[in-house]
Amino acid sequence: MNQSEAASRISQLRNLIEEYRYQYYVQDSPTVSDAVYDSLNTELRELENKFPELVSADSPTQRVGATPLSKFEAVPHASPMLSLNDVFSVEEVEEWVKRSTKLLARAPKSYYGEIKMDGLAASVIYEDGILVRGLTRGDGRTGEDVTINLRTVEQIPLRLRRDPSVPQAVYQGRFEVRGEVLMYKKVFEGLNKSREAAGLPLFANPRNTAAGSIRQLDPKLVADRKLSFHVYAVATEIAGISTHADEHGLAAKLGFKVEPHSAKMKGIDDIRAFIDQWEEARKELPYGTDGLVFTIDQREDYQRLGIIGKAPRAAIAYKFPAEQATTKLLDIQISVGRTGAATPFAVLEPTLVAGSTIQMATLHNAGEIARKDIRIGDTVIIQKAGDIIPEVVAPLPELRTGAEIVFKMPTHCPICSEKLVKTDKEAVWRCVNFDCPALERGRIIHFASKAAYDIDGMGESTVDALLDAKLISDAADIFSLTVDELLGVDRFALKSAENLISSISGRKHVTLDRFIFALGIRHVGQQTARDLATYFGSLDRFKNASPHELDEVDGIGTVVAGSLIDWLSSDRHQQFLNKLQAARVEPKSFERVEGKLTGQSFVITGSLGLGSRDDIAAKLEALGGKVTNSVSKTTSYLIVGDEAGGSKLTKAQALGTPQLDETALINLLNA
Ligand code: IVH
Repeated sequence: MNQSEAASRISQLRNLIEEYRYQYYVQDSPTVSDAVYDSLNTELRELENKFPELVSADSPTQRVGATPLSKFEAVPHASPMLSLNDVFSVEEVEEWVKRSTKLLARAPKSYYGEIKMDGLAASVIYEDGILVRGLTRGDGRTGEDVTINLRTVEQIPLRLRRDPSVPQAVYQGRFEVRGEVLMYKKVFEGLNKSREAAGLPLFANPRNTAAGSIRQLDPKLVADRKLSFHVYAVATEIAGISTHADEHGLAAKLGFKVEPHSAKMKGIDDIRAFIDQWEEARKELPYGTDGLVFTIDQREDYQRLGIIGKAPRAAIAYKFPAEQATTKLLDIQISVGRTGAATPFAVLEPTLVAGSTIQMATLHNAGEIARKDIRIGDTVIIQKAGDIIPEVVAPLPELRTGAEIVFKMPTHCPICSEKLVKTDKEAVWRCVNFDCPALERGRIIHFASKAAYDIDGMGESTVDALLDAKLISDAADIFSLTVDELLGVDRFALKSAENLISSISGRKHVTLDRFIFALGIRHVGQQTARDLATYFGSLDRFKNASPHELDEVDGIGTVVAGSLIDWLSSDRHQQFLNKLQAARVEPKSFERVEGKLTGQSFVITGSLGLGSRDDIAAKLEALGGKVTNSVSKTTSYLIVGDEAGGSKLTKAQALGTPQLDETALINLLNA
């Protein structure tokens, strides 16, 4: 065979192998046996060995590159890889439909529903129809170049399939698709079986295994992991592709595996039916899923609706309801927090729910336990939803033996043995002993927490270790800790001790609002702390706040003022403040930023897609604006989100305070 004969044979073989790959990996309907496929590949490999000048990057023999990398390169995405806002109920999906309809000022023509696959996002880029690059999502702006690994994924074509109905533009220049890298359940099980046989530690779940695999530096190893890739979007503008459904159709024609269980929908009724259908059926899918994605089909509408934060307005992720399991309730114990609240929690026989082992769950309060008739020894239903703390849903009384014990709320604090008290208005029992070690522990944890002093490395378990070792007795003691002292505690080595001491000394001077929040005064959240910091400006003025002054602070009502007066008038608290000052732990004075919103004050009500109340407050304050908790004559604008109602709105209407909806707010921020 001469070179030109070889070239034509090679080209025929590649086309046929590509066809069989497509049938097998993408369409799940092979027309030839594996042996035939392998044999054609062997012939191609031999020919390419004989005529190495005929090898090309898009040849099926070139999926697994020879040389492992030493690291992945960071590459910016052409357009950001966004994430989706999550919703947890059909009602929230309905609100999204209403909101989008309102923003578009008409109903979208159609929606598109699809499975939300539980893997990791990747972007795959072609130049003139040839695969040139594959990136992980990274932080959304910049990804890691994992091209050599994505090449091993058989569901990704090395060159785009030619299809006469596809616009030529696709094959010319740059073309990008995005999708999810997955490990099918079967592959995962097989992998773990062989790991078990080899005495290797087992992988936790398909998602993490897929994510770990794609970041392996040796492509041979990645090829063995048999990853999959399902496209969910086309990220290049192509004339004639005007809907999300078109994107899916196009990707399928080009030889990609496209999520097959997707559908166009007319409106909320179709959406509901789709949710109903997949609630159960998802368990039968060959890969993991954690929800459904709904998108406004028209690309033009999609673009018009824009992006809020890191997520498009025109798409949402509906998360399937909490995963449930049954287990035995071994005991009910009481935890006492910073505010003295004594909260019962369930000690459970460890059980796996939604991928993690649960041993404890919240029971809310004694009233709730009685209402649900949960008894110690019961078999109970527990559930976990997203990142939320697991909870006990209900007992299964049918499984009782008679040995179960009815829970009785203790009358005394399990930590300090003082009597617990309960006011009529509240559902919780509280320990009101200021010196109770549980309260002090809670205060210290709160003091060091992210929204307060934000001391890196000073989490619950560190605080416990320091208390146990008697190195601290209150939060002020944190600042006199030394490396030598820490070295006497088991969990610390030189490096970790030095790290903690250095993060503590780096946080001696936080802003006054953080300082006030860190004190853990009842009813004083982050916003109130900011209001107080704005008004008083310095610790000395705040320490000596009079009832009259508190009355003048915007956004502070009688309950909060009362709580502050109580706190400030206690000798113990004043001593604590003095102790901090003696240790030179003093807040920075609180200076307002000057900006285009200087002199304007805002109140926020309802929920906004733009972010939490604190996020929005921070945005307004960064521009010089002031955010308070309640509407008064001096309020410039009331920002009205979804489900707004209640006193703020009523008061604003009565005072004629101008209102801003989300769109107007965005305009104001961006103006
Ligand atoms: S659409 C604007 N469709 O979910 C982002 N995402 O929470 C467009 N995902 O990063 C995403 N299946 O990794 C879309 N059918 C699907 C999906 C899907 C899984 C992942 C994706 C994305 C994350 C967003």
